[in-house]
Amino acid sequence: MNKKGFIFDLDGVIVDTAKYHYLAWKKLANDLGFEFTVEQNEMFKGVSRKRCLEILLDIGKIEATQEQFDTWMIEKNVDYLKYIENMDASEILPDVSRVLDYLKEKNQPIALGSASKNAKPILEKVGLLPYFDTIVDGNNVTKAKPNPEVFLIAAEQLGVNSHDCVVFEDAVAGIQAANSAGMISIGIGEKTVLNEADNVFTDFTQMNNTFLNELMNIDKA
Ligand code: BG6
Ligand code: MG
Repeated sequence: MNKKGFIFDLDGVIVDTAKYHYLAWKKLANDLGFEFTVEQNEMFKGVSRKRCLEILLDIGKIEATQEQFDTWMIEKNVDYLKYIENMDASEILPDVSRVLDYLKEKNQPIALGSASKNAKPILEKVGLLPYFDTIVDGNNVTKAKPNPEVFLIAAEQLGVNSHDCVVFEDAVAGIQAANSAGMISIGIGEKTVLNEADNVFTDFTQMNNTFLNELMNIDKA
């Protein structure tokens, strides 16, 4: 059996935290006097906190001083942290644990590749931290997805060639990052949205062990 590096995004792949990000951004928008819709929140998936605030202020047509910008970044995160405070294993998305267990059983290296600076505490809360050989998150990167930096660092830390890595992603920017890193990109979500991915599954319940075996044996280089 070949060894591949399996790299998981966090938000929207392992846990459904997009709803908490949304509620925290919506609160800030409302405090600033405008609406922020679920549809607009789609643009925030996979995007760094700083970039999200820039987009939010564009939506509200608000010009901020550097000081205000920094304050709002902190405020949003304080609210987000309140939402995730009580997260537990019940919030792990369907069949994520089954896939992680199977990959562990097959001795495959596993990494997290996330834009979030809150990744580690979330994995701890839901009890999945021990599965990961390395965590690369918003604290370790300088360039946001679709730049491939986060996944390239993950591959390096796993000691696996980037062509031998598989990325699970729910965001368009994440699929693009995986593709430009030369990795196998697996979209988790809607085919129409994630059409640049090598394969797309609605969620992990649709991904059987035969497919995981194929991924382990694929030769993309
Ligand atoms: C990504 C989310 O995983 O992390 C984005 O999809 C979020 O919506 C980004 O903005 C940064 O997260 P955090 O936790 O550092 O604010
Ligand atoms: Mg995501």
